[in-house]
Amino acid sequence: MIHRIVKYGDPVLEKRCEPVANFNTPELNQLIEDMFETMYHGRGIGLAAPQIAIGKRLTVIDTSAGEDPAQKLVLINPEIIATDGSQTGEEGCLSIPGFREPVTRAMRATVKAQNAAGEWFEITGEELLARAIQHETDHLNGVLFLTYLSPLKRDMIRRKIKKLQKSGEWD
Ligand code: NI
Repeated sequence: MIHRIVKYGDPVLEKRCEPVANFNTPELNQLIEDMFETMYHGRGIGLAAPQIAIGKRLTVIDTSAGEDPAQKLVLINPEIIATDGSQTGEEGCLSIPGFREPVTRAMRATVKAQNAAGEWFEITGEELLARAIQHETDHLNGVLFLTYLSPLKRDMIRRKIKKLQKSGEWD
């Protein structure tokens, strides 16, 4: 099932999410499937549970955008345990449609997370995957990419979004 994606301005996007405690359940498996479906529908490469109004520490990533099933990644209760290097590139977010800005992130990121069965694993991503891991893990801590922009740029985007909200173009 495709869920509605929550947009910037909804408080659920700026709250720290709660850990997932129940694994191996039909509900969790369905939620993961729905998140991939919603992400592909929105043409994103990552989606975090708060983006569909669920305040849980769960995110899905696919840097191949549906081209390669082997790239599908589910991160539950993820913690970034190591980073190195740096990269600057355009970043967007399905919850902030229409706005893409250069963001500097670590070039490599190692994350420790649980899978749908509750098993812990580690994965190291580089470049785009590292960026997605950092962006999505941030979501679970209520942090959006706007945080990394200059105050001037951030305020400009906020003002544009406020206008869109007023004219009913931001739902
Ligand atoms: Ni995002």
